[in-house]
Amino acid sequence: MLSESPIGIYDSGVGGLSVLRAIRDALPQESLLYVADSAHVPYGEKTPQFVAQRAATLADYFVSCGAKAMVVACNTATAAAIAQLRQRHPGLVIIGVEPAIKPAAHLTQSGVVGVFATTGTLASAKFAALVRREAPEVRILLQPCPEWVRLVEQGVLHGPQAEAAVRGPVAQLREAGADVLVLGCTHFPFLREAIEAAAGPGVPLLETGAPVARRLRHQLQERGLLSAGGPGALRLQTSGAAGALAAQASRLLGQALAADALAERWR
Ligand code: DGL
Repeated sequence: MLSESPIGIYDSGVGGLSVLRAIRDALPQESLLYVADSAHVPYGEKTPQFVAQRAATLADYFVSCGAKAMVVACNTATAAAIAQLRQRHPGLVIIGVEPAIKPAAHLTQSGVVGVFATTGTLASAKFAALVRREAPEVRILLQPCPEWVRLVEQGVLHGPQAEAAVRGPVAQLREAGADVLVLGCTHFPFLREAIEAAAGPGVPLLETGAPVARRLRHQLQERGLLSAGGPGALRLQTSGAAGALAAQASRLLGQALAADALAERWR
């Protein structure tokens, strides 16, 4: 494993691109290999066993590509599988994402925090432990939003359909007293504008891309694995349709991009 090896990043679909964006901003010299497991999106409504089995397949794939690190850019997969992944590949830097409960607990004035995430994340033992550890005094309101994942996958980020989809869930948590909202799914930062408009001014919306990028930098630095080369390459792959991912990623990242379909047997 070399400092010039790529970093593997994956999600059930395009949501992890919100994390990839933060990693590219923080570590522009790193080569990134992004896999959208689009043949199996959404993860949020699947069993933890299924999501963990996909995580193991993805981790093995990144290792076979010579990756120096893996970022599980998915809250649902982190909750279901991060511990098993670290056991499976003890030599690999593995970074997961978790809803930003700790900063939310510090920021709230009302003592009520709203969390938008998938059903899988909110039902997980890992999430329950996170809340017990970081926010024992805070009232945490949970709102599963599978519809939001679908919208982002369809590229519906703005306009009446997006606004209508976020209005109800946001209003519910605001009316129940939440003054800080946690975007606990990596798809949701792409709906930030609509969520912000529904939440009203001055309501912090917390996401995790930047802290994940900082943690990744720190772990690579500790192992002497930070790339010293020029601008890193970005490669996109999918277990679904390559053309669809290329179009989605170009729109979400604001630059023209190509994607490859992974081999049939991999899926
Ligand atoms: N983006 C993922 C997450 O952070 C999963 C969305 C889904 O596939 O349901 O949880």
